[in-house]
Amino acid sequence: MAEAALETVPAQIADHPAIASRARKLGLKASETLLDRSYHHAAMKGLPESWKRGRPDIVHFALMEALATPLFTSGDLDVYVHTYGNKIITVAGGLRIPKSYFRFEGVMASLFRDRTVKSDDGKKLLEMHDGTLEELVHDIEAERVVGLSSSGVQLSAEQVVAKNNTDRCVFVIGAFPKGHFSEKTTQLFSCTYSIHDSGLEAHVVIARLLYDCERLARM
Ligand SMILES: C[S@@+](CC[C@H](N)C(=O)[O-])C[C@H]1O[C@@H](n2cnc3c(N)ncnc32)[C@H](O)[C@@H]1O
Repeated sequence: MAEAALETVPAQIADHPAIASRARKLGLKASETLLDRSYHHAAMKGLPESWKRGRPDIVHFALMEALATPLFTSGDLDVYVHTYGNKIITVAGGLRIPKSYFRFEGVMASLFRDRTVKSDDGKKLLEMHDGTLEELVHDIEAERVVGLSSSGVQLSAEQVVAKNNTDRCVFVIGAFPKGHFSEKTTQLFSCTYSIHDSGLEAHVVIARLLYDCERLARM
């Protein structure tokens, strides 16, 4: 997932009453809470690119979709989240994400605070570090970087998967509500495809692509 609308409340709006009220309810400092348009709409008005930000629920849905697939549980899919603020989240193999949004919010807030979330027996489940999408793509030695966007070349999900059938192919899905990838992101793509004749939600694109990856791998 790229440019994910997942971040903690930026300092410039931390004093807004809408932010303070939500932080009080959660028993956290304002700076430790996730920016969320459902609660912070009024406070977000002056933020740059605010239309692309404050939607942690998109990441929640997308992770639930990807992490429940046979492709992920078999260890054939690695999942990373690159956020709007250039943080990289690494998801441990086999991880199950909480189904409850309230619990997901708590896990993500502690990930931003502690940079790691561990299981009771000390295994790292989620890790966060500063980094750009470009650095991530380099670090994981991607052979192909395939962008998915409603403005890409139109092909079915099945064709996209078949055409990019290499071991180290990265499919990049935007985890933001509106707008398009930044130019910095699109420059990394070997190719960009649209798998439907209109815009889809990120979790639907993920479900369709991963299903076709499984079919190709005869899982
Ligand atoms: C809600 S959309 C973001 C809005 C953006 N205007 C768009 O339609 O691509 C979230 C993500 O889903 C993916 N997506 C949406 N529609 C798609 C389509 N028709 N084909 C491929 N990917 C799509 C893209 O990766 C996009 O960044």
